[in-house]
Amino acid sequence: MNYEINKISLDILDFTIASKNIINLTLDVIYENRMKSKTKFKITNYLGKGAIGQVYLIEKISDARNIIFFPENLYVLKISNDNCIDELLNEMTNISNKFKNSNIINASYPIAYGSFLNIKAVGVIYNFLGYYNLEKAKKIQSMIEINHSKSIIRQIILQMKQLGNNIHCDLKPANIVIDVDSNTNDIKATIIDYGLMKCYNDRNIISTNYITSPESLLTLTSQPISDIDMTKHDYFGLFVIVINLFVKNNYWDIISNYLTKIHNISSRFILKDEARVLFVYIWFKFNNTGKAHDIKNSKLRKLIYDIESRYSLLALKKFSNFDSFFNHHIVPNLDSYFDDMDQCYMLKSFLRSLIYFCPEDRPSLDILLEFPFLL
Ligand SMILES: Nc1ncnc2c1ncn2[C@@H]1O[C@H](COP(=O)(O)OP(=O)(O)OP(=O)(O)O)[C@@H](O)[C@H]1O
Ligand SMILES: [Mg+2]
Repeated sequence: MNYEINKISLDILDFTIASKNIINLTLDVIYENRMKSKTKFKITNYLGKGAIGQVYLIEKISDARNIIFFPENLYVLKISNDNCIDELLNEMTNISNKFKNSNIINASYPIAYGSFLNIKAVGVIYNFLGYYNLEKAKKIQSMIEINHSKSIIRQIILQMKQLGNNIHCDLKPANIVIDVDSNTNDIKATIIDYGLMKCYNDRNIISTNYITSPESLLTLTSQPISDIDMTKHDYFGLFVIVINLFVKNNYWDIISNYLTKIHNISSRFILKDEARVLFVYIWFKFNNTGKAHDIKNSKLRKLIYDIESRYSLLALKKFSNFDSFFNHHIVPNLDSYFDDMDQCYMLKSFLRSLIYFCPEDRPSLDILLEFPFLL
């Protein structure tokens, strides 16, 4: 079947949050002869409000003219706030340009609301991938066994491999959707939210603060981009995802507790824009005995010297190395998964390898898949 979406207009009849709300989608689809199709959806659930706009779970009520353009019943609608049209358009362009020939992104359909000259909102309809994201997964944690968790990690790594020359830049628990098949008990994990995705050699790589990699800070400076190895930037997001899978409290709570209680660093500082500097500094301390001259990579070494001269208070604080952080702040949070301390030890070595300060010390994705913890 060879069809292409020419223009889709979204005609919203009523768009407030209530169970009976119905949206009307009128699609112009070029399919052999020019034909129009009208599909009706209702909003069944509100999934989240991100920086860009609202995300809803929608259910197909009917297809007209028997064009089965939306073969499933459930979809997700992301619709921009008025002032964030550009960001959502960016996400849509990212997805359509970079994944044309790949199966990594499930089907997505761009939509626009308003007239051609006066677009009021843009949106995307995605295939529905599951009811939970890993941030909300605590609710079903009793269903997720250790083998599920390992399978989730393997699936994420395999999808990271498919990104090719791109880095996701917002890999975190909220951006992993999971679906449990109640018959087979299999679990499916899918990376979503490609709004921040960049190429390896792009400037200004920005992520959520607590998943910022050291090297990404170099892309904000005037360093020549060709000198910066960005291929393993997403490992910091993977680290946070893995921790969240195994601990009762999420990583953000653990780390903010650690900073406030142990180091007296206020949450105001953690939430400020400079927080990414603080996180990079912590990755450095987790991996080094505490001296900047231990760092092999000269660009990263300079970064730490700069951080220590700008934030002299940080340099005076005695942060834990990774072993001590893991044993004192992660292990007590590990739930009954780990009766077997060998597993816990293997998890530690897997996690440790993700956050080496110099990218060249972190293993490739293929080697990660071979780690004893995942076998
Ligand atoms: N295709 C999907 N299937 C199931 N759930 C989804 C899907 N897309 C999004 N969701 C749910 O909606 C939530 C928000 O979606 P998404 O991450 O795409 O947008 P956002 O975080 O609000 O936007 P942004 O991070 O760009 O500000 C996700 O955390 C997930 O729970
Ligand atoms: Mg998101």
